Amino acid sequence: MDQNLLTKIRENVDIVEFIGKYIPLEKKGKNYFGLCPFHNDTNPSLSVSREKQIFKCFVCGEAGNIFNFLMHYENISYREAVLEIAKEIGISVNDNYKPMVDKNKVYYDIYDIANKFFQNNLLSKEGAKARKYLEERHLTNEVIKEFQIGLSLREPDTLTKMLVKKGYDIKLLNDLGLSNNDYDTYIKRIIFPLFNPKGEVNGFSGRIYNGENANKYLNTKETIIFKKGENLFNYHRAKEEVRRAKFVILMEGFMAVIRAYTIGVKNCIATMGTALTNEQISLIKKLSNTVYLCLDGDNAGETATIKNGKLLLDANLNVKVIPLTDGLDPDDYILKNGAESFYSLISSAITYNDFRIRLLKRGVDFKSSTELSNYVNSVLKEISVVNDEIKREIMLKNLANETNVWYNTLEKKLNELMSKQDVKSKMVIVSPKNKEKKKDKYEKAMQTIIYYMLINKEVITLVENSKIYFPNQIYRTLVREISYFYEQYGYISIADFASYINENSEVQEAFSEIITLDLDEDIKKDVILDYLKVIKNYNVALEIKRLENLIINEVDPLEQAKISNQIMQLKIGSEKND
Ligand code: UTP
Ligand code: MN
Repeated sequence: MDQNLLTKIRENVDIVEFIGKYIPLEKKGKNYFGLCPFHNDTNPSLSVSREKQIFKCFVCGEAGNIFNFLMHYENISYREAVLEIAKEIGISVNDNYKPMVDKNKVYYDIYDIANKFFQNNLLSKEGAKARKYLEERHLTNEVIKEFQIGLSLREPDTLTKMLVKKGYDIKLLNDLGLSNNDYDTYIKRIIFPLFNPKGEVNGFSGRIYNGENANKYLNTKETIIFKKGENLFNYHRAKEEVRRAKFVILMEGFMAVIRAYTIGVKNCIATMGTALTNEQISLIKKLSNTVYLCLDGDNAGETATIKNGKLLLDANLNVKVIPLTDGLDPDDYILKNGAESFYSLISSAITYNDFRIRLLKRGVDFKSSTELSNYVNSVLKEISVVNDEIKREIMLKNLANETNVWYNTLEKKLNELMSKQDVKSKMVIVSPKNKEKKKDKYEKAMQTIIYYMLINKEVITLVENSKIYFPNQIYRTLVREISYFYEQYGYISIADFASYINENSEVQEAFSEIITLDLDEDIKKDVILDYLKVIKNYNVALEIKRLENLIINEVDPLEQAKISNQIMQLKIGSEKND
């Protein structure tokens, strides 16, 4: 792609605003920080520089400009990222490039056909009973359309037959989970299409509706495009709304999400009745830093709230709980109590700690001194991990009020608990956060020089004049390309150079590593010269090693003497250099 055009597009988009649309950023000093979406980040380690128009993650090492960000974020090619951004800002790219055909495209195409097929079935004469069922569940035509709800029929109106007639291989249909032993997987079920985070249909969940004696929901098996643990129901649809609301509501089932949608609460997503996976947590992080858990109001739901809440907190997300009771799920709750009641439930969501305390309190006999003191002790333990002094004080006061235990006693006990924990936490050995491979000084010298070449054109000239040979092919390429870029465009910038080398992944990787280095921005010529000397000496050392190997294999004593003389000269030269 044309470099000038890439630069023009890039200059039209401020990276802080751009990345800020995907992840919340906070200003600290000169730069902006947020949770890195490219690894399971627990501390904001993604830094975005407005001045340099680049981002970098100090932990996983992902780095680059806006194009690199979008490419990794959406798992698309570099070109697609450029085209997407260009389109967004209305710059036309006259690029006769055709998007690379996704190797999975045919699978998504098939799912798309199946999805339309099921939707049509629901509208057909055979769909009357299913439509009635949906109506009884208060799902309007509008909602049915929005969620693309469909229906599977039985012989002779099967999906398998239709797809085979269209020329698709039966084996492929079996592999994709649409057929099972050459017959339809879904027979007489209401079909809910499942979407991947990009919004492509990649699976189905089919619900019985006629009182059949079968599993309530039947989900697509794990296939090449469907992994239950990497999907979240309604994720693609909720994206925008979550960004507006600034929090996401996590539910258990999709009827809950659909019901919430019908009352205008559109920032909900759901696991499909399974434990939260790391992949799902990463996906959630891409949406928001704050998660409201709204799981079913039964024992299983409470246990899941405790478990998922912990996982989310460990991933450094803010967690709140919308507690439901009486075995109700959000769907039941809304139908029973109405929209307004659910809205106020959301706005009075409680903290994760308060939720835990609420569970501890349940069933405690306050008249029994043993039960009461057990309760007080376990609540104190909960309070001791809250790291906000004011919150702790409020919680203590509440505890004193409800138990009639003297505040000072509680406070003393809490302090004891906390000092014990302090000792424990101090004993934890702090492991270096960068599991960075050990670099030798030569590699460090090369990387440092390249870094400074990228931020200062005078260093480029300095390196060119030194005629130094970089003893590493990738760094050599980088140095050559930086020189070339400078010669061609008359300036140097990390952000634009990132566009320039995008096609070469090996170089790209080394480049990311280099721009993630935490180096002093002040450049001193002496330092550069020192580093150049380090590399020069390294080259000499390599040459000496090569000659020493030659001597060993040389039989002619005259030749041996010649080589050892050469070695001597090199050694003297490099000492002078020091
Ligand atoms: P629920 O049993 O709470 O279902 O399971 P639901 O969402 O409330 O649905 P209705 O109201 O009974 O129609 C929660 C989630 O667990 C998964 C589904 O994803 C469901 O949404 N599940 C449940 C299954 O995968 N299979 C089942 O047999 C049941
Ligand atoms: Mn339900």
